[in-house]
Amino acid sequence: MAKKQELQNNSWEYAPSLESTSHISIQKKYDLYIDGKWVKPSSGKYFKTINPANEEVLAEVADANEKDIDKAVKAARKAYTNVWSKMTGAERAKYIYRLARMMQEKARELAVIETLDAGKTIRESRDVDVPLACNHFFYYAGWADKLEYAFPNRNVEPVGVAGQIIPWNFPLLMAAWKLAPALATGNTVVLKPAETTPLTALKLAEIIDEAGFPPGVINIVTGYGDTGAALVNHADVDKIAFTGSTAVGKLIQQATAGSGKKLTLELGGKSANIIFDDAPIDQAVEGIVNGIFFNQGHVCCAGSRLFVQENVADLVIRKLKQRMESLYVGNPLDKNTDIGAINSKKQLETIEQYIQIGKAEGAEIFQPTCAIPSKGFYCPPTLFLDVAQSNVIVQEEIFGPVLTIQTFRTVDEVIQKANNTPYGLAAGVWTDKGSRIFNLTTKLRAGVVWANTYNKFDPTSPFGGYKESGYGREGGLHGLRPYVRLK
Ligand code: NAI
Ligand code: MG
Repeated sequence: MAKKQELQNNSWEYAPSLESTSHISIQKKYDLYIDGKWVKPSSGKYFKTINPANEEVLAEVADANEKDIDKAVKAARKAYTNVWSKMTGAERAKYIYRLARMMQEKARELAVIETLDAGKTIRESRDVDVPLACNHFFYYAGWADKLEYAFPNRNVEPVGVAGQIIPWNFPLLMAAWKLAPALATGNTVVLKPAETTPLTALKLAEIIDEAGFPPGVINIVTGYGDTGAALVNHADVDKIAFTGSTAVGKLIQQATAGSGKKLTLELGGKSANIIFDDAPIDQAVEGIVNGIFFNQGHVCCAGSRLFVQENVADLVIRKLKQRMESLYVGNPLDKNTDIGAINSKKQLETIEQYIQIGKAEGAEIFQPTCAIPSKGFYCPPTLFLDVAQSNVIVQEEIFGPVLTIQTFRTVDEVIQKANNTPYGLAAGVWTDKGSRIFNLTTKLRAGVVWANTYNKFDPTSPFGGYKESGYGREGGLHGLRPYVRLK
């Protein structure tokens, strides 16, 4: 038996296959991209962004304060009034298409920089983040001259200057989600990337510059939470779009209340992945792994709560554990790696705290016997069995590769359990029965419900949450709505 186990493990040993970093260029120091120029932060302060896979410093990045934000908002206002809002949709589209094409040309460089700065696997940044980011720009460029068809019989006007604050889990993709619909509808933007992952947004600023956008249409300012707060509180911003933690989302909601600023929030999740006994079990197991373990569980819509129908629970759990034994945790630049680095030390500590809480709550823990690099921030894929609905690890967002498993017998029971959460971002349903899928898609209180798949995205399809997962939709025709005033 021991021998057999050893053979099984050995069969997963691949030779390392590292993506090259020789073709990328990262500057040592980045200033702020304001009004089409690189300007020094008024405080003179810079902070470091590191590679979480090995803790090495990648670059120094400007720390913007209120004065810098004011400069950026003024530049955005001027560009809005004098240029961008006056341009025809067809003209705006040309710029956005050009940006999308130039990003495609630099796709490999963007993917490698994303992996270095964020710790996510090259497989994901190369195959998911970068192509989807390009597709978002292509898709919304297509709407720019067709807004009267998007909103028939209405006069469509832009909102004005948009302040956009994004997180670290999909840095370039979130920038694209935010920028593309805003630009297509004639708004100008001040974008703030997350402090641990500013490099692809800064690379994007270089591409925007090369693409010849009129100065001030897109401004990219880096900094921490106080930089984001300065943007939220600036009196001349017309709209705030935020993706990140529910706690900060609530602060922003309070800060903008009564200000007349439009607001969209895309916050956390605790999404249910539901496996029925008639599901294709092997595909479902792969869907579970894709739903929570790939991208280190750093996905707002991660399938972090697994519900398995009781009569197949043993089988599913056995197959899942087996699959977890074969997952590679390690260097995100290695094309074989399934689970890369946790984005930051702070996030790793949060995840480890939740793992301790889970153990203290009496849940049974399973982690495969995988090797983990000694430097950098890593967490093995983790299962919690025998959990109860009231457990902290079942209720709260962990944002790491940690999965809780519960069983159910009936459809009504699983709907109740799945909906019993403060969140409502996404859900997955695995079954052979189409009628059951449609029944669940109408009853699950989640913005997206995937059937027999998980974590699939497309620019044409809207995304967003119920309850504490936020409000407003991004993607698709719905994604235009927050950026227009209809008359
Ligand atoms: P965070 O919400 O603090 O950071 C997201 C962005 O907001 C960053 O750009 C940050 O600089 C900015 N920010 C922070 N405080 C702000 C403020 N007061 N006003 C304006 N902007 C502000 O998230 P954090 O601390 O990095 O992660 C904590 C938890 O949030 C994670 O464990 C996870 O549960 C959740 N999260 C959810 C994400 C999602 O996609 N829904 C993405 C990232 C984190
Ligand atoms: Mg970094």
